[in-house]
Amino acid sequence: MSSKARNIVVTSALPYANGPIHIGHMLEYIQTDIWVRFQKLRGHTCIYVCADDAHGTPIMLRAQAEGITPEALIERMQQEHQTDFGDFGVDFDNYYSTHSDENRHFAELIYTRLKDDGHIRTQVISQSYDPLAEMFLPDRFIKGECPNCGKDDQYGDNCENCGATYAPTDLKNPISVVTGVTPIEKDSEQYFFKVSDFSDMLKEWTRAGHIQKEIANKMDEWLEDGLRDWDISRNAPYWGFEIPDAPGKYFYVWLDAPIGYMASFKNWCEKNQGNFDDYWQADSDAELYHFIGKDIARFHTLFWPAMLHGAGFRKPTAVYCHGFLTVDGQKMSKSRGTFIMARTYLQHLNPEYLRYYFAAKLGSGVDDIDLSLDDFTARVNSDLVGKVVNVASRCAGFINKRFDGKLAANMSTNSLSQACIAASDSIAEAYEDREFARAMREIMALADKANQYIDEKQPWVCIKDEARHDEVHDVCTIGINCFRQLVILLKPVLPKLATEAEAFLNVKPLYWHDLANDLLSHDINRFKPLMTRIDKVYIDRMIEASKEAEAAEKKITSQNKDSDIEPIDAEINYDDFAKLDFRIARIVKAKRVEKSDKLLQLTLDIGDETRNVFAGISGAYDPATLEGKLTVMVANLASRKMRFGVSEGMVLAAGSGDTELFVLHPDEGAKPGMRVR
Ligand code: MSP
Ligand code: ZN
Repeated sequence: MSSKARNIVVTSALPYANGPIHIGHMLEYIQTDIWVRFQKLRGHTCIYVCADDAHGTPIMLRAQAEGITPEALIERMQQEHQTDFGDFGVDFDNYYSTHSDENRHFAELIYTRLKDDGHIRTQVISQSYDPLAEMFLPDRFIKGECPNCGKDDQYGDNCENCGATYAPTDLKNPISVVTGVTPIEKDSEQYFFKVSDFSDMLKEWTRAGHIQKEIANKMDEWLEDGLRDWDISRNAPYWGFEIPDAPGKYFYVWLDAPIGYMASFKNWCEKNQGNFDDYWQADSDAELYHFIGKDIARFHTLFWPAMLHGAGFRKPTAVYCHGFLTVDGQKMSKSRGTFIMARTYLQHLNPEYLRYYFAAKLGSGVDDIDLSLDDFTARVNSDLVGKVVNVASRCAGFINKRFDGKLAANMSTNSLSQACIAASDSIAEAYEDREFARAMREIMALADKANQYIDEKQPWVCIKDEARHDEVHDVCTIGINCFRQLVILLKPVLPKLATEAEAFLNVKPLYWHDLANDLLSHDINRFKPLMTRIDKVYIDRMIEASKEAEAAEKKITSQNKDSDIEPIDAEINYDDFAKLDFRIARIVKAKRVEKSDKLLQLTLDIGDETRNVFAGISGAYDPATLEGKLTVMVANLASRKMRFGVSEGMVLAAGSGDTELFVLHPDEGAKPGMRVR
């Protein structure tokens, strides 16, 4: 056992419950899981907690779009997330939800303590508001033309074309992504956390070894610029926790999200007789680590320590940031098929390949990590299959067939097992410091040594000479023992391979301290290939499947209502149905909308009035063929301001996709303006 036993809590960032887990996320969960498994392997108490981040506007709107309650959505997402994580071997001690009683309790407690100590103030501010949806709009739900370069269809916080950042009020021709109307400015009172009350504490904390130097430098910039108060409230309608004594105001999702770490830990304590205060009280000597992506550093290194400190809790021992995952040198891309969902990966490849590859690339810094698909294939095939598993497969056959499955009673002096023990401290240090790439290099150097040893001893030659059988027994026993050591060293990264190797070796679960023991006069089981080579075909199939999965996901999440047809699966009652005003309409004019490859602009005569309607049928119809024809329209649909003008209703068409669409026409005799019933 290594040094003194430690009590450790570890977290990964809480994934949003509004979408599936992708391999970019997996970089973080795999990094954290490897570190946690290493601590456990060393005999420490290490509790790994996480949860779904279940609040916020995007979740509320996605639930609406799917016609289900937010509760149903977050429930389903959590199931999916947990299955994905489990299948990747990410072994949480507790996985919970921020939409939980424990989280409400701690959010209210922390808020109340901060408020009672004067760290909360209110102020009336003006924000973008969608008058049709009757809701305030987060920046991400406003689109318009970039004030800098003029590119259309840009989000309210930054331009993807020129990289400019701005306030949503700076956008030209802004529209609400929710309804398509032009947002207005509206005043309301909001609650602010006075982060600047904690400037001195944060300045000290920043330089006390709790964060990486790159992040500390960023912190210095923020602190020098002066800390602005943080708006922690949102107006109804919002999906989250209502603020105590502030009806209609909700905690901003980022207020209760990190508190979710505590809530999940509390929930673990309830199930395992753990002592919450031992870990979270201000003077706790337990260790607390947060693994996060660099995009969310500010929340974890500024706001979170300030909240904890202000509310009388302990602060993190360290916040560890990692960089972003790129694929083949570029940002993950939906159209290239490199935006790979965890589930899609799992349908094509062994999760331990990716765990190993990430480990082989990860260091303690915040640099981005590239998954080069060719390098991935080459590395896995040469390191895991060609080096590690090869050691076992080259020795096991002889033991199984020639020595009755039994290892020799003793081993001749050899440099292999000594080399593994000698390297183990350095490898442990690399794991501890999150220098996984270094750990993998050192382990592969040991595997190389083992293979060279077997090459030199040539057991396949010796076995032909009866007199040298003892020698073969010795060499193979040494080889199997070295394999066992490699498995221990790799166990944090390859838990499934380790379990299968333990079954093959016929041993109890291995720990780090087992490195020093030898396996002698011991029966092993038949060897089955523990890992097979990656064939490029599987990678190609995964990329293809990612393109398809993306198309399916787009259907559900699309907020771009002027171009997509939403799937309908919500049940309505008769009263809902009766509200619909269908009318016979004559298509008086039809023309293509410039700059849109989907829309036709229709002028419709419904008897006593004419309507202007934009219909997404341009891919299926030559506009001239529609003029003069009768169709059916929804006449009482609220008008929507779109990029090209106001749409005053919808026409009915059957079919799916963009090109296979059929406008409905009534039978002969119907007249414009007739009600359809
Ligand atoms: N819900 C917040 C975190 C709240 S923590 C109190 C959030 N969720 S997220 O789903 O967007 O991201 C979860 C984690 O995955 C974050 O740490 C984020 O940095 C990480 N990653 C998301 N995409 C990633 C890559 N492409 N590459 C590496 N990490 C990525 O943020
Ligand atoms: Zn721009």
